[in-house]
Amino acid sequence: MSLNVVIMAAGKGTRMRSAVPKVLHRLAGRPLLQHVLDTVAQLAPQRTVVVTGHGAERVEAQVGAAGRCVRQQPQLGTGHAVQQAVPALDDAAGTTLILNGDVPLIAASTARALAAACGGERLALLTVTLEDAAGYGRIVRQAGAVQAIVEHKDASPSQHQIREVYTGMMAAPTGALKRWLAALRNDNAQGEFYLTDIVAMAVADGVPVVATAAANETEVLGVNSPAQLAELERRVQRHQAEALMEAGVRLADPARFDLRGTLTHGQDVEIDVGCVFEGQVHLADDARVGAHCVIRNARIGAGAVIHPFTHIDGDTQGVTVGAGALIGPYARLRPGAVLGDEVHIGNFVEVKNSTLAKGAKANHLAYLGDATVGERVNYGAGSITANYDGANKHRTVIGNDVHVGSNCVLIAPVTLGDGATIGGGSTISKDAPAGQLTVSRARQVSLSGWQRPRKPAK
Ligand code: UD1
Ligand code: MG
Repeated sequence: MSLNVVIMAAGKGTRMRSAVPKVLHRLAGRPLLQHVLDTVAQLAPQRTVVVTGHGAERVEAQVGAAGRCVRQQPQLGTGHAVQQAVPALDDAAGTTLILNGDVPLIAASTARALAAACGGERLALLTVTLEDAAGYGRIVRQAGAVQAIVEHKDASPSQHQIREVYTGMMAAPTGALKRWLAALRNDNAQGEFYLTDIVAMAVADGVPVVATAAANETEVLGVNSPAQLAELERRVQRHQAEALMEAGVRLADPARFDLRGTLTHGQDVEIDVGCVFEGQVHLADDARVGAHCVIRNARIGAGAVIHPFTHIDGDTQGVTVGAGALIGPYARLRPGAVLGDEVHIGNFVEVKNSTLAKGAKANHLAYLGDATVGERVNYGAGSITANYDGANKHRTVIGNDVHVGSNCVLIAPVTLGDGATIGGGSTISKDAPAGQLTVSRARQVSLSGWQRPRKPAK
C-alpha cells in the first residue's frame, strides 16, 4: 500500500524571536526539520511532501532531495497547509501520514504504528494524555469512541477538562483525506482551516477513528521558543548519554555531555565533564578525553589521551589521532591532521593538514601546517612552518629523527633530511642535509668594555 508523508513546516515560529525559520533551529546539531526527514526516510514512503511558507527558500534548501516542497502562502491553518500538499500526493489507495516540522523527536516506530493504525481505511490520531492540556486540541469521545477534536480556543468549559489531546500528528486514508480537506471551513475562533475538523467528518462518513497513544511525552513535544528548544536539547542529550553509558562509556557526568552527531567507541572509554562531540567521532578502546574538549569529525586511537581544553576539528577532511598519543592540554588539531601512534602534541600547539609519524613530538607553542613529519621527530617550542607565501601553500618535509630547536621558522617548501638538527632560532629557507647541524642565525658576539647608556645627571 502506498504511503505519503506530509510535513507541515510553514509556520513562522513567532516565539522563537529569530530571523531563522523555526524548523531550521538546531537540536543535537541537526535542524529540527532534518530530524523529522531522517525519521521519515526510515519509513521509505512513496512521497514526502514538505509544506513551506515562512523562510521557504531556506527551508526548501534544507529539504533538498529528501522530499518535494509545496508552498503555503499565506498560512491559513493546518487544514489549509495539508490542502497545498494534495496535488503532490501519490494518488494510489493508501495512507497519508501528517507530521510536524517542529516536533523533531517523533520515533520511526511510532510513526510506523500510526500509519499501520490507519491502514488506508481508518483515521488514526496520535494522542497523549497531559497533566496540563492548555492550548491543545482535545479528544472528544462518546461512549469511548472518538467523535471530534475541539481546539482549545473553541472548547467549552467541560471540554477544557479533557486531558487526552491531539499531538498534531495523524494518518488518514489518502482518498478520504482529499475529500475532507475540500470540505473544510474556517468558521471558528481563530478563523483558520483546522485539519482537526476532519475527525468529525470521518465520524459522519462512518470511517473508524482510532487514537494511538504516543510512546512517551518527549517524542510529541513541539518547539515554539528558545526555552522549549533548550529543554528538548537536554532531553536528547540525556537520552544519548544514557545509551552510551549502557554501552560501557564512562561519562563523568551525563548532564555535562553534548553529542551533536554520532559517537562510536570501543571498550573502556572515558569522557570527563563539559565535552562536545560533533559530526562523526570515534573513540577507540581505552581512549580518554579530558574536561572541556571539543571534538568534531575525528578518530581517536586506542589508549590515546586528550587532555583538557583541546579543540579538534576535522571538518570535511577529518583528523586522526594514533594509538597511545597524548594531546593537549590546550592543543588544536585542524582538518587533515594525521597523527601516528604515540605522537605527543602539547599545549598551544596547532597542527593542520600535516602527517606526523610514530613518536613525533611537538610539545609547546608550535605550528605545523602542510608538513610531513617523520618518526621520533622532536619539534621545539615556538617553532613554526611558514607554509603560506601570501598566495600559495607549500609543504615542509621533515625526515625521521630530526631535531628542530626552539623558535625556528621553516620556510616552505623545504626539506629537512633524516637525523638533521636545526639550531634554535634558525630561519630555514633552504633544504637541510641529513645528519648535520644546520644553523641560520647571526653569530653570537660579546663586546668587552661595552657600557649601558646612563641617564644624564641632574
Ligand atoms: C495544532 C492542532 C491541535 C494540537 C496541536 C499540537 C490544529 C487545528 N490544531 O494546534 O489540535 O493539539 O497542534 O501541537 O491542527 N502550520 C502550517 N501552516 C499553517 C498553520 C500551521 O504549516 O497555516 C504548521 C506549523 O508550522 C506547525 C504545525 O503546522 O508546525 C502546527 O501548527 P500550530 O499553529 O502550532 O497548531 P496548534 O495551534 O498548536
Ligand atoms: Mg503548535
